[in-house]
Amino acid sequence: MSEIRFDGRVAVVTGAGGGLGRTYAEELARRGASVVVNDLGGATDGSGSGASSLADETVDAIKKAGGQAVANYDSVATPEGGAAIVQSAVDHFGGCDIVVNNAGILRDKTFAKLEPADLDIILDVHLRGAFFVTQPAFRLMKEKGYGRIVLTSSSSGIFGNFGQANYAAAKTGLLGLSNVLSLEGAKYDIKCNVIGPAARTRLTMGLEKDEPSEDAKRLQDPRQVTGLVCYLASEACDVTHEIFMVGWGRVARAFIGLGPSWFHEGEGFASVENVRDAMGEILSTEGFIIPKNTMEEVGPVMAKLRG
Ligand SMILES: NC(=O)c1ccc[n+]([C@@H]2O[C@H](COP(=O)([O-])OP(=O)(O)OC[C@H]3O[C@@H](n4cnc5c(N)ncnc54)[C@H](O)[C@@H]3O)[C@@H](O)[C@H]2O)c1
Repeated sequence: MSEIRFDGRVAVVTGAGGGLGRTYAEELARRGASVVVNDLGGATDGSGSGASSLADETVDAIKKAGGQAVANYDSVATPEGGAAIVQSAVDHFGGCDIVVNNAGILRDKTFAKLEPADLDIILDVHLRGAFFVTQPAFRLMKEKGYGRIVLTSSSSGIFGNFGQANYAAAKTGLLGLSNVLSLEGAKYDIKCNVIGPAARTRLTMGLEKDEPSEDAKRLQDPRQVTGLVCYLASEACDVTHEIFMVGWGRVARAFIGLGPSWFHEGEGFASVENVRDAMGEILSTEGFIIPKNTMEEVGPVMAKLRG
């Protein structure tokens, strides 16, 4: 089995001072990548910053293992921060081939209790943050004709989770971003994929009711996610525009499918009652397709019009 290597590649991993991001940065560096270890060093709710020890610890570990890395403490949540993170890759290592958008925080509250500030900060870090870091990197990737982008969504957004309306909305926004980046990047060998990870980190340990068993800890170890992320960041990766649920030793494809299409037959327009009566057929998933762009989504309509 040939080993997947990253020699000569430059990677940016955001939020790499701990948890999942640290494992990605360490594994990419162990396999030869030069890594910008970004971490703002704040609390899990996005308050505070400046704990540079977080990014520094990852960089120290990488260097101790013989790898190349540099720390960066900018926030992903501003255009200036995103530009500075990518510039750090250019200044220290001469480019940017890989971006793993991973930085994240939580502000969980039920929808009725959410304040605008709880929405703003979550959108800033997760959704705008991914824009601000990926855009300057994407421009470099286009010029070079090579790039790998990983965006971190969440089961919470993709499938829903009680008490996380702000987080879920931001995380699902990343699917939209990935859909377009994978299309726009296609002719430049830029691949963009989304992960929905599950792992025991400082973000999730606060939600635990009991201490997990040793076996459960192994299954929830962030390193269960690292293999997929490094594959998606590698030259060997030939998939794009995909969503993967990963963790607990599992990797599963998630996808947005289109049901078989119900058509209103005859004159006039579909009435409220027509729609009610057809709801069983509309909700069917039999023979679904997975459109890769809006043209494929309207494909069944075009086929119908053509008879
Ligand atoms: N752990 C899980 O089960 C799980 C599930 C779904 C999604 N996720 C996502 O995975 C990603 C990593 O989370 P984790 O579980 O490793 O948590 P973590 O708290 O260990 O790591 C997140 C890191 O991001 C950094 N960060 C926060 N805001 C930042 C900013 N503005 N700029 C730069 N860095 C910033 C934090 O300092 C922290 O080190 C997050 O996007 C999270 O939403 C995690």
